Amino acid sequence: MSIVVLISGRGSNMQALLDAGLPVSAVISNRGAAKGLALAAAQAVPTSVLEHRDYARREDFDAALAAEIDRFGPRLVVLAGFMRILSPAFVARYAGRLVNIHPSLLPAFTGLDTHRRALEAGVKLHGCTVHFVTAELDHGPIVIQAAVPVRAGDTVETLAARVIRQEHVVYPRAVRWFLEGRLAVERGVVRVADHATEAQWVFADEA
Ligand code: GRF
Repeated sequence: MSIVVLISGRGSNMQALLDAGLPVSAVISNRGAAKGLALAAAQAVPTSVLEHRDYARREDFDAALAAEIDRFGPRLVVLAGFMRILSPAFVARYAGRLVNIHPSLLPAFTGLDTHRRALEAGVKLHGCTVHFVTAELDHGPIVIQAAVPVRAGDTVETLAARVIRQEHVVYPRAVRWFLEGRLAVERGVVRVADHATEAQWVFADEA
């Protein structure tokens, strides 16, 4: 029973999953330059690269990606800073076993540049969300959220740093629940077996 992690860049969430001792059977990137690839390789985790630029159509890339993922037979596919919009066929293939982490309290601030947009909107709480992936970008059933305060004087960088620390807390927790078979989705709402709803949020009142 393993997971495959898809990355495009730094790989700090991938590292948090490894640090938590989760069974990562492979890390796959759509960019050969992704820093996380070296991190994974240094820990003897198999890595592969499929450059999306080598594929004429999104569907072709996604089909090749699925074939690569399926070589490892994962129970769960984990998007960890994977900066690609996935085709409906790909999402359907992994329905119910594909999760993502997004750096906002969804459904607020879907898409890119979330920390800047949160500051501009003047929200007082910001955070991150682990969710199942559905065809609509950043919209699937919510597994867990972490909220952090927005503080006076925050910049995009200070706010992003506060949020990512919580990403590293909640993503391993969500993945572990999935692998333990605890997650159930009913009418778009995720429940965790043997846990109160309170287990599905974190409020980190840190500096
Ligand atoms: C994280 O902020 C994650 O929420 C978003 O992309 C970023 C990836 O960071 N989807 P890292 O590569 O895990 O360090």
